[in-house]
Amino acid sequence: MSEDAINICWRAPSNIALIKYWGKKDHQLPINSSLSITLESSSTTTSLSFRKRSTKGKKIHLKYYFHDQQHLIFEEKIERLLDDLCAEMPFLTDFELDFHSSNNFPHSTGIASSASSMCTLALCLVSMEELVSRKKLTEDDFFRRASFIARLGSGSASRSVFGGIVTWGYSPFISHSSDEYATPFPIQKESRLNQLWDLILIVSTKEKAVTSTSGHLMMNDHPYREGRKIQAESNFRRMVEAIGEDDFQTIAAIAENEALSLHALLMTSSPDGLLLQSNTLHLIEEIKRFRTGTGLELFFTIDAGPNLHLIYLEEHRERVLSFVKNSLLRFCEDGQWIDDKIGSGPVRL
Ligand code: PMV
Repeated sequence: MSEDAINICWRAPSNIALIKYWGKKDHQLPINSSLSITLESSSTTTSLSFRKRSTKGKKIHLKYYFHDQQHLIFEEKIERLLDDLCAEMPFLTDFELDFHSSNNFPHSTGIASSASSMCTLALCLVSMEELVSRKKLTEDDFFRRASFIARLGSGSASRSVFGGIVTWGYSPFISHSSDEYATPFPIQKESRLNQLWDLILIVSTKEKAVTSTSGHLMMNDHPYREGRKIQAESNFRRMVEAIGEDDFQTIAAIAENEALSLHALLMTSSPDGLLLQSNTLHLIEEIKRFRTGTGLELFFTIDAGPNLHLIYLEEHRERVLSFVKNSLLRFCEDGQWIDDKIGSGPVRL
């Protein structure tokens, strides 16, 4: 291998879960199967440049730049992650690693930056592994390995490796599914779900009081843990059937039930994680009223924060946009919103 630095660069999108992953078991494995939509625009770009070290070390050597500034907090976090990954990828300590990462969406806006950033990191590392080992993986094996590695950094990142609708977690209803990595969920070419849009309404850009790491942890001894597992598996199975039948109404009902259940779990955790704000509730009321009045196919979902994702079919775009501008933006911080849609997954640059 050449002594010069080699550069690899990936762009990967974030995703929004319709069936939520909330709670872990063992080593970064989910207590229930989840299902998400990969986004198109909201993404992270990460480049990895690596150069052989003169002597083999025992520890990872890396620098991590975020938006062109060395970011020591992220650097430490990635260093810990890569130290753990050495069991899987022992070659990592043979190289100096330089990561440059940037997001094209603002921080704390209801878009999971850990999903897109951990996904790019994993894709860069698996590309590096191919070069170092001189073993080219098949496309399926490459993305499955990247999803496996991404999962170790952030569970939801395992799903961002694939475009469209994606599941993660073993389920008898999904062939080739596993707790270890995500699996793309093919939808018919003519399905209207290929034209899903996601309009993110930003209620607050304040840093969340509860991180997903602490939220998952609180599920360990949550009084509703066992009930949640049963509910999520039932919602997952019904969601898979509804997607197969292009049954929008059922998809909408399950997705909203999941969003509110996530927050019910948060609110009943100890200590409590109340992340919804009064404007989130106003948005929900307005969306329900609009849907009842117009019969349009749309629904909301919410991640672990106060911001709300309004998911709708492309054919309703004009009416949804004017509804949002006229009735919803007043509940958003400085009228902020993000326009996104279902996307086709990561790209190597
Ligand atoms: O991937 P993590 O550890 O940040 O957890 C993500 C949890 C949720 O975003 C709330 C739900 C999900 O499935 O994406």
